[in-house]
Amino acid sequence: MRILSGIQPSGRLHIGNYFGAIRQHIAFQEKGDECFYFIANYHAMTSRNDRAELEANTLHVAMAYLALGLDPKRSVFFAQSDVPQTTELCWILNCVCPMSLMEKATSYKDKIAHGLSTNVGLFDYPVLQAADIVIYDSHLVPVGADQKQHIEITRDLATKFNLAYGQEALLLPDAHIVPEVAVVPGTDGQKMSKSYNNTIEMFVSPKETQKQCGQIVTDSTPLESPKNPDTCNVFALLKLLAGPAELAEIADKYRAGGYGYGHAKKRLADLINEKFAAARERYAELEKNPAMVRDVLRDGGRRAREVAETTMQRVRAACGIVTNR
Ligand code: ADP
Ligand code: TRP
Repeated sequence: MRILSGIQPSGRLHIGNYFGAIRQHIAFQEKGDECFYFIANYHAMTSRNDRAELEANTLHVAMAYLALGLDPKRSVFFAQSDVPQTTELCWILNCVCPMSLMEKATSYKDKIAHGLSTNVGLFDYPVLQAADIVIYDSHLVPVGADQKQHIEITRDLATKFNLAYGQEALLLPDAHIVPEVAVVPGTDGQKMSKSYNNTIEMFVSPKETQKQCGQIVTDSTPLESPKNPDTCNVFALLKLLAGPAELAEIADKYRAGGYGYGHAKKRLADLINEKFAAARERYAELEKNPAMVRDVLRDGGRRAREVAETTMQRVRAACGIVTNR
């Protein structure tokens, strides 16, 4: 089974990225699947144009994955821009993509709704993502629920290409979405996202984690009153980190009253600090050696290009692009 996923270097990684995606990525690697994971730096350019920020975030995502257990010997780990065949395939897929398919894409509509200015790259974002996926003949794409439509669009585009050119040149991938962590809420209760300023980050100090957990929005039920765990953002996040026995105990305390949201937030921060302590140490070590991290990406890029070029020879032949190189 070939697994592929990508993550944008558009900010600092947060626990929504971890539980929604990265944890599954590492689990597939541990299971012995053939894994391709990449840093979607071209995608990140659709929302921000800042050179220093993009460079720094790219390195941050690379170090974060390595710190969280990505093993570059077992997984192919690379930067999207190191595989130029992907943008070539994006163009070819653009030419079988109806305008109406992009106009329906919810991530584009969402970004407009959040006041982000638009550009053609943002509009075309799902086509580049489709190219990312089919170029590696990927079977399964582990992502959070927000990416479901992008995988559906990928299947549509692969089908349109195969129909247009009368060949089974492109494979149709499936999404892999874990229901319990499909949408991790942010501190304001909407989906946690680097673009919404509502994140609880993975690679910060324990004190900063306490601070970010302190910002989670709750209702104003007084400390002594009973509370409903099922409608509480803090409890929704505790579900990701506390074991079943502790979770049941905390739920009882909510219902009994006398247990404040502040207590729950403090416990949440402690659990996050415990969970990511070892990864934070490894991250600090990697920060001292960025050259080594770049070597990892260079090697991954070389391996990814080999696979991508093989697919592209098949694609070019299928659609009548004669290469004269
Ligand atoms: P962000 O929205 O923070 O910019 P990305 O779009 O880069 O995150 O997403 C990287 C991966 O993390 C994707 O697979 C995405 O589905 C997943 N992901 C992001 N935010 C969440 C969340 N709040 N809950 C679950 N999964 C998430
Ligand atoms: N759009 C994805 C996100 O925001 C990132 C991404 C780009 C991706 N290309 C991909 C994810 C290919 C999976 C497969 O999270």
